[in-house]
Amino acid sequence: KLTSIKALAAELSGLTSIPPGYSFQTIPNIVNDEALSVSEANESIPTIDFSLLTSSNPEERSKVIQDLAKACQDWGFFMVINHGVPESMMKAIIEACRAFFELPEEEKQEFEGKHVLDPIRCGTSFNVSVDKVLFWRDFLKFFMHPNFHSPTKPSRLSEIALEFSKRVRQVAREVLRGISESLGLELDYIDKALDLENGVQILAANLYPPCPQPELAMGLPPHSDQGLLTLLIQNEIGGLQVKHQEKWINVNPIPNSFLANIGDHIEILSNGKYKSVLHRAVVNNKETRISIAMPHGPALDAVVSPASELRDSVSNLPVYKAMKYREYLEFQQSSKLDGKSALERIR
Ligand code: SIN
Ligand code: FE2
Repeated sequence: KLTSIKALAAELSGLTSIPPGYSFQTIPNIVNDEALSVSEANESIPTIDFSLLTSSNPEERSKVIQDLAKACQDWGFFMVINHGVPESMMKAIIEACRAFFELPEEEKQEFEGKHVLDPIRCGTSFNVSVDKVLFWRDFLKFFMHPNFHSPTKPSRLSEIALEFSKRVRQVAREVLRGISESLGLELDYIDKALDLENGVQILAANLYPPCPQPELAMGLPPHSDQGLLTLLIQNEIGGLQVKHQEKWINVNPIPNSFLANIGDHIEILSNGKYKSVLHRAVVNNKETRISIAMPHGPALDAVVSPASELRDSVSNLPVYKAMKYREYLEFQQSSKLDGKSALERIR
């Protein structure tokens, strides 16, 4: 049974090295990829003004749809500002998740799940059944939609998460309407085709305690997100890196914004026009980082396939095979796959 990173970091406090099982030095392939330089350039992730998505002014609306198309094509990542979700709510959910991680180890163990579809699950690393080296990260995941679940401890988590879930889901659905339109599809194409009324919304909280040797450990490996659209918030500590033009870019989020990214199922639906983009988390030796990623996906039984309107105009062939969302999630968890290889296997 694995120790949580929270407990491990406490045990190591005052020490200067990490156990070998957490060091990437031992795995040559990964080191080669990880060695990809981190860009020094002051490139920054595009910003989308959410308030313009609901604007009644057609010029404003068409401008923001163009911005969205460009952000999705060039980066696969964008910051969403002016979204209307109160800052106090964003802070409250981060603090409630922090309180969960601070519960006694025995109390968290109650939620140690194994399966990707377990409604509440916590643990450590990325995918322990396949990880060759352990990642410096603890997580808590729970399904907030179509049925709301959450741990009953700490007592305030449930109430805060329920309210937050509704607000964030509205933002995600509005952005997805914009993405639909930016692809040249009907505004409600994704909504209808993938039954978003019953769409999956997960809260995935990540805790990255200070690490004595941050240069040897990783918080999360390079991966793309399943689902359609992930919205992420975090405390003020950086660590997320996004792959852009073969370089890793440090993300410095704008306070009070959501960081949004395209998931694998938009790549499938758009027949590759919009790509889900690799990202990873690095760790530091000073402060605890907390992030909360909220993937929004199709309904579990929706079949996702490339929109016929977007298939290659010459051959008219879909690039990805049709697959139920539920089956994709199970396939991704059970196969020894990393990076974007789950998506590549269905091509
Ligand atoms: C994630 O990719 O799920 C989380 C990344 C982060 O911690 O910022
Ligand atoms: Fe992710």
